[in-house]
Amino acid sequence: MEKFYLTTAIDYVNGAPHIGHAYEKIISDIIVRHFDRRGRDVYFLTGTDEHGVKIQKTAAAAGITPQELCDQNAQKFKDTWALLDIKYDKFGRTTDPVHKKKVQEIFRKLLDKGDIYKHSYEGLYCSGCECFLAEKDLTEDGLCPVHNKAPEHVSEENYFFRLSKYAGRIKEYVKTAVKPEWRVAEVMNFMEDLQDISVSRSTKNVQWGIPVPNDPEQTIYVWIDALSNYYTQVSPEALGSAAPSFTLWPATVHVIGKDILKFHAVYWIGILLAMEEALPESIFAHGWITIDAAKMSKTTGNVIAPADILKSFNLTEPDVLRYYMASAAHAGKDGNYSDDDFKEKVNAHLANGMGNLLNRTLNMTEKYFNGKVGENRDSALLAAANETVSKVNGHFDKFEVAEAAHEIMALVDMTNKYVTDNAPWTLAKDGDMEKCEEVLSTVLKVMETVSYLIAPFCPNIAARMANQLTMGAKIEPVFLRLDSELADKSAKR
Ligand code: MSP
Repeated sequence: MEKFYLTTAIDYVNGAPHIGHAYEKIISDIIVRHFDRRGRDVYFLTGTDEHGVKIQKTAAAAGITPQELCDQNAQKFKDTWALLDIKYDKFGRTTDPVHKKKVQEIFRKLLDKGDIYKHSYEGLYCSGCECFLAEKDLTEDGLCPVHNKAPEHVSEENYFFRLSKYAGRIKEYVKTAVKPEWRVAEVMNFMEDLQDISVSRSTKNVQWGIPVPNDPEQTIYVWIDALSNYYTQVSPEALGSAAPSFTLWPATVHVIGKDILKFHAVYWIGILLAMEEALPESIFAHGWITIDAAKMSKTTGNVIAPADILKSFNLTEPDVLRYYMASAAHAGKDGNYSDDDFKEKVNAHLANGMGNLLNRTLNMTEKYFNGKVGENRDSALLAAANETVSKVNGHFDKFEVAEAAHEIMALVDMTNKYVTDNAPWTLAKDGDMEKCEEVLSTVLKVMETVSYLIAPFCPNIAARMANQLTMGAKIEPVFLRLDSELADKSAKR
């Protein structure tokens, strides 16, 4: 069996998880569940990024140690992923002792090879990105384009990584591995005149990090520490007896946000080339989620936690939120969350579109045929269902999760139209039981396909659909409408 090893970005623990972090983990979980169903040997790594100045400062402000802050917040991420049914195989933390040791080994290997060297440097540093920026990367007003903040002028002696040495090979890699393809140009643009990068910080400024081996005055740069997690966390040493029977490295796909693409597609690939390791098959950069069309920010106060959405809509399982988030944005594009849109889409697509169709069909089957129908079916609609399976697979091959969801909904719409056009209730009234049976049997068969395809998005609901369809479980609505009163309450959240 072919393996499928997916990683997500590891989240900074200087805050609690919000719906943007959740978006990435939800689409990743859906992708992994999909490939699991297609028979791949799947492995899903996620985790937290726990070192750096920001964590150090947040902990100091809260009057706790950095480790205490990391422990508290890492737990919040784990709790949220549990609420959202994110079924990862491993949650790796950059404060894990094995990770720290292996990052030092990588650093030492590159130092011994001459790919890491000491050098004094002056430059513009953005503490938000935790990286140096070149003049050409700044906005017209001289600000960091991601954080809209003026970078600080910094001068220190650091260790540098010979990134420029690998520029040619990185470019070759980027052309085929970066997804969606339309993002390739922006990475190539960033690589014009590629400079070596600083990979350590003075311990005077950064204490909360992994020490450079044999140099107490320098701390390993947080991005080198963070990126290495994809590799260190699945090493035999880190996995121990929990190691799967198949080899994990290299990753099949790194799923990350568009803001951190250059770190992955350029820095990380350079490091792996220097390490003489195999390269990940692809890097998929997703877009960003806004709230009511505004960027989420602590200062605006519009940051939404996934747990709060579930609570305000009185949801005891995450299925409909997973579906909504996964279909919120086309692959790589930005998307938006709003309470009203959430309610509207869940009611229209899931409760009315899919849920009613299943419920009506099961009820008619019960009423007219005692719950049992024959195998005579409409071949055109069955062919359409098979075609949907191929289209959905094709989308997942390109990590197009929303596009896959739209295909499934298109099949549901087509099936609803088939029911309306054939009106099995009229056929029954007119006594055409043969045709009526054919219509119901066709719809039930298509719904089996729908429940199979929707399972990665809505695992709990799909299981109940399958039970009603094939196990004769009691017929009851599988999707409930989101209550408007509850949604109004959420507006006051
Ligand atoms: N710690 C780094 C990643 C290191 S990976 C080796 C980091 N952390 S983060 O917490 O700021 O972001 C984690 C992931 O969440 C990133 O992929 C980022 O793009 C994503 N998102 C953060 N806010 C987001 C939205 N509003 N919408 C969608 N994804 C967002 O970067």
